[in-house]
Amino acid sequence: MTPRPVYFDCDTGIDDALALVYLMASPEITLAGIGTVSGNIDAARAAVNTLDLLALGGLDEVPVAVGAMDPLAGPFSGGVPHIHGHNGVGDVELPHTARGPEQESAAEMLVRLAHEHPGELDVIAIGPLTNLALALQLDPSIATLVRKVTVMGGAALVPGNVSVAGEANIWNDPEAAQIVVSAPWQVVLVPLDVTLENTFEEADRTALAASASPLNRALADILDLYFDFYVHEYGRRMCALHDPLAAAIAVGQITATRAPKVPVVVDDTQGPGRGQTLCDLRGQRGGARDVEGANVRVVLDTDQPLGPVLLQRLLDYAG
Ligand code: RIB
Ligand code: CA
Repeated sequence: MTPRPVYFDCDTGIDDALALVYLMASPEITLAGIGTVSGNIDAARAAVNTLDLLALGGLDEVPVAVGAMDPLAGPFSGGVPHIHGHNGVGDVELPHTARGPEQESAAEMLVRLAHEHPGELDVIAIGPLTNLALALQLDPSIATLVRKVTVMGGAALVPGNVSVAGEANIWNDPEAAQIVVSAPWQVVLVPLDVTLENTFEEADRTALAASASPLNRALADILDLYFDFYVHEYGRRMCALHDPLAAAIAVGQITATRAPKVPVVVDDTQGPGRGQTLCDLRGQRGGARDVEGANVRVVLDTDQPLGPVLLQRLLDYAG
């Protein structure tokens, strides 16, 4: 099967790093371009982290473009060093590549790739959606050219993580998220409802640490700080696989078993609900059903745990 071209938008970040290496290891797709956005860390540092990880895996030809440093409505809040470290990758010093980012912005890269791969480009977005919104504003026709947009973001029937209502990627730029979910393209939303149910344990991290691949060993080191953070959520050292789950669903290794297409609105007001994804799941008790005219598929359940699938693909990947 011909690999599908992917534009990957990330705020590399620790689980972004896992998702990136998973995509590097996935023969179903080819990374046509990567854009970075401020979220876990600023977009410029996210690009450095992404370039270093690509280099560690020998993929020096994948173009990386620095995207939006600030969300649409105001200045970047500065990242989350207590979760992703001060450098975005768990304060681990990766071997540093001399390769720099492209001249074009992430939004310009997305517009270019959409026109170069009409009807075939898949977008996988695992950070705030600023670059996607900017690309839509730059050229609205990309909504008809892009095949599918898979987003790690939102919370449908569970609380948020940054606030009671807001999940980080949406909360960091609600205005951008609203533009993305209301554009006339097909969106698959992978929310906390499913990402918090898919995890890595210490045994998975130990397996990566024992790998012959320097890339996998780096991931094991990077995960250490992330495991500390998740003690508060799960009561022991482990971590959620937010971004890798979105990547695995986009690639097709994980199948969404309950994922109705329903109206979704993002709360972009200044109230306590700011950053909430309001998914209209009324009338779904008789079994998941698509709502006429809706364009956002909300993933509420999947066919198998991601952990073993993710670990195996990483261990099989020589890089
Ligand atoms: O809420 C989880 C999301 O926010 C993930 O994409 C994580 O990397 C952070 O960006
Ligand atoms: Ca992310």
